[in-house]
Amino acid sequence: MLNRRMPAQFPPIIAPSILSADFSRMADEVAAVEAGGAEWLHLDVMDGHFVPNLTFGPQLIGALRPQSKMVFDVHLMMAPVDPFIEMFAKAGADHIHVHIEAGAHTHRTLQMIRDHGVKAGIAICPATPPEAISEVLDMVDMILVMTVNPGFGGQKFLDSQCAKIRTLRRMADETGRDIRIGVDGGITLETCPRATEAGADVMVAGTSVYGQPDYAAAIAGLRESARRFS
Ligand code: DX5
Ligand code: ZN
Repeated sequence: MLNRRMPAQFPPIIAPSILSADFSRMADEVAAVEAGGAEWLHLDVMDGHFVPNLTFGPQLIGALRPQSKMVFDVHLMMAPVDPFIEMFAKAGADHIHVHIEAGAHTHRTLQMIRDHGVKAGIAICPATPPEAISEVLDMVDMILVMTVNPGFGGQKFLDSQCAKIRTLRRMADETGRDIRIGVDGGITLETCPRATEAGADVMVAGTSVYGQPDYAAAIAGLRESARRFS
């Protein structure tokens, strides 16, 4: 079986989250991380119901889409989510992550995402056990492990989630398909290697990119730290 932690085979992706960007200069902020070497852009959609915060919707994503070649990695923290999948697909999402906790019919939701030609991800909150997603693994391209309780940037990485990442890495590898595992929340130069060592290969980073003076240096630093397994 492939060791997906080998950097040469499965290099870690750094996905800056615009949640921590300057919202009054969003187009420039997106261009700046692209120029700084980011391949994916993480877009956090919050509904004020599933999570206690509100951000933006498909209009902003659609407005940014023509301005960037980055992969748009859309994280929907919404419930219900099914009525909105088509809007986000049409807005130009390349990936759509939905939460296993967002509703009873995740299987249908993932099928809707795939029917729109969009890659599907399943996001999992800190309190949810890894086995909760076992029955939908065959329908996903990505798993997004929340290493904070979703809703806000700048929170502390929950080390307790590393055991879950390990379990999910094993479960994902057992499918025989390439399933990426992202980590979202509290990723820094210190926590990044812990996540990659556990089996993650996508690092979502808000504060540790947009909170830094030099985005390119921040992205390069995170990429380097993600390759440094302890
Ligand atoms: C949290 C969001 C994250 C957030 C991470 O609910 O899903 O994507 O932007 O922010 P940092 O990296 O600051 O923890
Ligand atoms: Zn997110």
